[in-house]
Amino acid sequence: MNPTALNDTLPPQAQLSAVRHGLMWLVLANAVGVLLAVLLLFPALAQPLGEWTYGRWVMVHVNLELYGWTALPLLGFLFHVYGAGGRFSVWARPAVWLWSAALAVGCATWLTGASSGKLFLDWSGFARVFFALALAGLWLQLAAAFFANAKVHQRQGRFAFFLKLAVLVLLAFVPWGMYHAADPTLYPVFNPDTGGPTGTSQLESTFGVTAIVLVLPLAIASRKPNRRATLVLAWLLLAAEVPLCAAMGRANVSHRQPMQYLGLGVVLLWIPIVPAYFSAFAWNANSRRWRITTLWWWATLLLTGWIFFLPGVLDHFKFTDGLVGHSFIAMAGFTSSLIILVSVQLLGEHGWIFNRGRSFWLWQFCVMAYIGLMILAGWIEGADPAFTIVPGPARNLIYALRLLTGVLMLAASLDWLRDSLSRRFADVASQEAA
Ligand code: HEM
Ligand code: HEM
Repeated sequence: MNPTALNDTLPPQAQLSAVRHGLMWLVLANAVGVLLAVLLLFPALAQPLGEWTYGRWVMVHVNLELYGWTALPLLGFLFHVYGAGGRFSVWARPAVWLWSAALAVGCATWLTGASSGKLFLDWSGFARVFFALALAGLWLQLAAAFFANAKVHQRQGRFAFFLKLAVLVLLAFVPWGMYHAADPTLYPVFNPDTGGPTGTSQLESTFGVTAIVLVLPLAIASRKPNRRATLVLAWLLLAAEVPLCAAMGRANVSHRQPMQYLGLGVVLLWIPIVPAYFSAFAWNANSRRWRITTLWWWATLLLTGWIFFLPGVLDHFKFTDGLVGHSFIAMAGFTSSLIILVSVQLLGEHGWIFNRGRSFWLWQFCVMAYIGLMILAGWIEGADPAFTIVPGPARNLIYALRLLTGVLMLAASLDWLRDSLSRRFADVASQEAA
């Protein structure tokens, strides 16, 4: 695939708008995270918030991090892939605004206590309809751009053309799929048939994440010559995981069975393969530090995710802050770095907003510290379940340090948002558009 041909006709507004909205939600979500950390230390402060309780703010926090911060910059990626520039770029910004409006409606429902009860699928009532419509609007825009630019897409090669078409067809089911998945009667919120944590389910979700990690470079960076073998090997390995997932069994199995933890151990193979895969592509020079951190967090996620699953370890960490630490490695460490890497690559020279040393190191250092604190708290809590419930000096110290790292992460994200809204950023963008 030639990644540049369509981008030449694409004013950067579409990507800029998606990244700005993503950053705006990151700042808001982090501010809510700080509020949560304050409330865990000083529960009496919840009094003036009335019915806007801790549990409601948690829904706002996790959904804004997921559907705001980690999703919106990927809209910029889709605009790039389907060539939603040229005369279609005029629709890119409304699609971004529609997505943000759906999230704002979502926040209103979560704060008033309406929810499907399903974690990360909390859409209910009007918000559920609105979000599905926003997804449908985005799809229509991508489809219109794709067919209008069909000739350019065809020139990029038959395989790329049909791959994009196939993905577009699959994406058509997403609005309907999200709407139905959020239905509490479709499957129960607590599903007794799943039989607890299985290596199969962890492997399947890692399989999905790995597919995303392999697809992204194909569309945003050009392949270096003579590196075809690395790419083929990676895709073959991914395909080989499908029968493994099927063979490992589900439902009536447990993480204590060797087949489960040894089967899940296959994810460790991806630790050296993904860096080799990434190095088969030519990246923008200014994306280097985000490539390194993406790969670093990737290796950390796979290794610690597998260790967390082992018999004895998971039993100790289950329902503790240790799993909050795991979520943070996955979302604030790995996913956030990947999102920023994609954004820097697509924004080209505008990617400087993510490369200031101060915000970069502040973010990385605080994410690491936060994870260390949560794993420590989780480990103590595993042996003493009252540890995080009954305030004591050690628990308060850990939670106070978590609050401090949260405030500093909020500051780093504010730095990125401020730069993305700065005149220098806007000026370069409008010159290019002209
Ligand atoms: C981007 C990738 C990932 C995301 C977003 C993610 C997110 C999560 C979340 C939100 C939870 C629930 C935490 C809680 O109960 O508080 C979880 C649990 C867990 N994850 Fe991940 N994770 C990812 C990748 C992985 C990988 C690669 C592995 C293993 C190699 C893994 C292993 C586990 C295990 C063992 C649990 C506990 C399951 C249970 O207790 O039922 N995760 N993950
Ligand atoms: C300013 C930075 C942040 C602070 C202070 C913060 C704080 C918190 C707090 C206090 C909780 C609730 C934990 C509990 O109820 O025990 C939480 C949960 C969570 N946060 Fe954050 N957060 C921050 C940033 C982020 C970011 C950047 C992401 C993802 C990109 C994220 C994803 C999550 C997730 C997935 C959970 C649910 C974890 C679980 O239940 O396992 N947070 N956060």
